[in-house]
Amino acid sequence: GAAVEVDVGALQPGEKMTVEWRGKPVWIVRRTPEQLKDLKALDAKLADPASERKAYPIPGYAKNGARAIKDEYLVVIGVCTHLGCSPSDKFVAGPQPSLPDDWKGGFLCPCHGSMFDMAGRVFKNMPAPDNLEVPPHMYLADTKLLIG
Ligand code: FES
Repeated sequence: GAAVEVDVGALQPGEKMTVEWRGKPVWIVRRTPEQLKDLKALDAKLADPASERKAYPIPGYAKNGARAIKDEYLVVIGVCTHLGCSPSDKFVAGPQPSLPDDWKGGFLCPCHGSMFDMAGRVFKNMPAPDNLEVPPHMYLADTKLLIG
């Protein structure tokens, strides 16, 4: 499939946009400094905090704490690694129905309850075995992304 060019310049902190690539939804989330700070504290609760598993290739540039080329922008495929549902946004931190009280924001899969953090990393003991996939991508300019 063809690569997709996206301008993320209009995306505000805390917002998400979705583009389609190879028939899959690709999410781009502009994370707030707070959300990025919260990621660091979660490692012990995650199944694969450093994205070291090999179920699918994770680009080298996404093997860091933020899983991103630019920390601010998360780029992931919005398909649950369990059975392929699309998780919902739960960006608000704190107590919410069906989420832990110390929830820091992320994504919740409506099908079997898998939880992912704001870097698309899956929590321990979830039905989903792996972190959300990071598609190949690069920046053509400051806010211009090429996915694929
Ligand atoms: Fe997401 Fe099962 S498909 S938890």
